[in-house]
Amino acid sequence: MGYANIYAKWKADPEGFWMDAAGAIDWEVKPSRALNSDKAPIYEWFTDGMVNTCWNAVDRHVAAGRGKQPAIIHDSPVTGTKHTITYAELKDRVARLAGALRAKGVTKGDRVIIYMPMVPEALEAMLACARLGAIHSVVFGGFAANELAVRIDDCKPKAIIAASCGIEPNRVVHYKPLLDGAIELARHKPDFCVIFQREQEVAHLIDGRDYAWHSFQYGVEPAECVPVEGNHPAYILYTSGTTGQPKGVVRPTGGHLVALNWTMRAIYNVGVGDVFWAASDVGWVVGHSYICYGPLIAGCTTVVYEGKPIGTPDAGAFWRVISEHKVKSFFTAPTAIRAVKRDDREGAFIGKYDLSCLQALYLAGERADPDTIQWAKDHLGVPVIDHWWQTETGWAIAANPLGLEELPVKIGSPSVAMPGFDVQVLDEGGHPVAPGTLGAIAIKLPLPPGTLPTLWNAEERFKKSYLNHFPGYYETGDAGYMDEDGYLYIMARTDDVINVAGHRLSTGAMEEVLAGHKDVAECAVIGIADDLKGQSPLGFLCLNKGANRPHAEVVKECVALMRDKIGPVADFKRAVVVDRLPKTRSGKILRGTMVSIADCKPWKMPATIDDPTILDEITQALKSLGLAQNS
Ligand code: COA
Ligand code: AMP
Repeated sequence: MGYANIYAKWKADPEGFWMDAAGAIDWEVKPSRALNSDKAPIYEWFTDGMVNTCWNAVDRHVAAGRGKQPAIIHDSPVTGTKHTITYAELKDRVARLAGALRAKGVTKGDRVIIYMPMVPEALEAMLACARLGAIHSVVFGGFAANELAVRIDDCKPKAIIAASCGIEPNRVVHYKPLLDGAIELARHKPDFCVIFQREQEVAHLIDGRDYAWHSFQYGVEPAECVPVEGNHPAYILYTSGTTGQPKGVVRPTGGHLVALNWTMRAIYNVGVGDVFWAASDVGWVVGHSYICYGPLIAGCTTVVYEGKPIGTPDAGAFWRVISEHKVKSFFTAPTAIRAVKRDDREGAFIGKYDLSCLQALYLAGERADPDTIQWAKDHLGVPVIDHWWQTETGWAIAANPLGLEELPVKIGSPSVAMPGFDVQVLDEGGHPVAPGTLGAIAIKLPLPPGTLPTLWNAEERFKKSYLNHFPGYYETGDAGYMDEDGYLYIMARTDDVINVAGHRLSTGAMEEVLAGHKDVAECAVIGIADDLKGQSPLGFLCLNKGANRPHAEVVKECVALMRDKIGPVADFKRAVVVDRLPKTRSGKILRGTMVSIADCKPWKMPATIDDPTILDEITQALKSLGLAQNS
């Protein structure tokens, strides 16, 4: 059955569609119904089913006789190592770790923070939590201690599992001091920490609080899988919103299993025994869904890659991994392909490897520019599938579902809505607009299985952020349009979120950091166009009266402050001092206009501007940075 028929089938009977899909999951108790609207507009799926994620991702494959199949391939050019873990080994390792956590008091519903680089132990920690029904929250290694502390205080973990260090091409990332600093900063203190000591850096352990990964597990009774309710949170993943307080996206267990399993065949066209690789990080949603859970639930082999697209050692790194491990479907961020393209425009490295195993390249996380898609298509000779989704949804809202049917690709569009998503483009009043007309992209409620039912401990914030603006819809925060054929075009965010190298960041959070500098009276952060990273943050600083220090010094301190408070991932390297910020008469900073000036895009003088002359000052400031050259 082709895409149109499947989508129509879902639309005619959404519950029947998802109940069918749920048949591919092993349930301890089968759910009696799919959708639970009792608390609408908060929707749940498979509420009364009982199920365990780890069983479905690991044990059932061993039980089916596939214990010898590789589950995880760790390929780490930054340490010069590679190794493979079979499903049988994975089961033992996860059961032992879960047993050790249980022996220290971790049980169903407890939260566990995981702060680890791209090592198989990160996936094992996630799966061990899932085995016990504990709720993990993975924090990306590029965040600083302060960001980790904010998450500790929000989800109040009983335990934290971390590695001694991460390895970036240019430095060792000292995780342990960051962890110690975060626990020091946080009001909530975990009962204990488990530290995976890496040979590149053996960390000092605090007596009575920290346990070394191996000795922690020594001699413990392995744990069996604990079935949980379908609506039990599998994990919390924090993502950027408009303020410095990140949003704790909740992922419910039953829907997560059903939806991810469905996507592996329908979208990525892989199944048991196929090798699937998402070159992302376990700290992001792509890592949760498609490095860890999706491929394992579907019985694939997943690649955990600890390296970069370029420089580890060269722009052929991706192609080496694909050919060496026989990757069938490959997923990465457009920025990574842009980096490769920049270093190897002619695709010489591609020619060096046998890529006959590769069936398709999938891109998501940010807008994929047409030149990058075309380059990849020309040089790889396989379909390049742009698909659009968010941390909140956990899987693709729009895609070209290769496993159902290869639809014609329209470059610049992530293609069409997936079953489960009734996507509509709305005007300010919440009315659907005509094809081709720009508007806010919204999804008619209920959202499908696997998507967020709420935010952790913040139901009102959930409603305010996503549901209140367009009653009956989920507001995606993206703006764009749909063409006559139902193809979507995602053009921009409607909020203060920017996307730097596929990393979702909040300009509001960055402004809070800058405002904390003693000389800064007022500030604004905008995301300006960047050839490699899509967007790059830029700060505008208005200094306090009497702060007559050299501007360059203040800017340098602000750059360091951002790295210290948010982390290197913010990639905040540029700021400029200005006398005033352009505002509307009601005091709203005109960030959009500043972005247009910086990017040399056409813009109109906002009718509500308080003082138009400020825009000349902003233009001059941007020119001093080599921007806005044509303005
Ligand atoms: N732990 C610690 N620091 C990290 C980190 C991690 N896991 N990941 C990135 N950083 C650091 C980098 O070392 C860099 O620090 P620096 O300022 O000292 O150089 C900083 O964060 C910014 O990193 P990044 O934006 O990744 O830029 P880069 O210049 O190191 O690399 C690319 C450029 C294009 C190669 C890189 O951005 C990339 O591979 N992007 C893919 C992104 C991706 O997979 N996103 C997931 C969404 S699907
Ligand atoms: P994240 O939650 O980090 O996955 O970021 C989600 C946001 O990234 C979306 O709301 C979009 O703004 C952007 N995004 C993700 N995928 C795409 C895509 N294929 N095209 C355009 N924007 C995208």
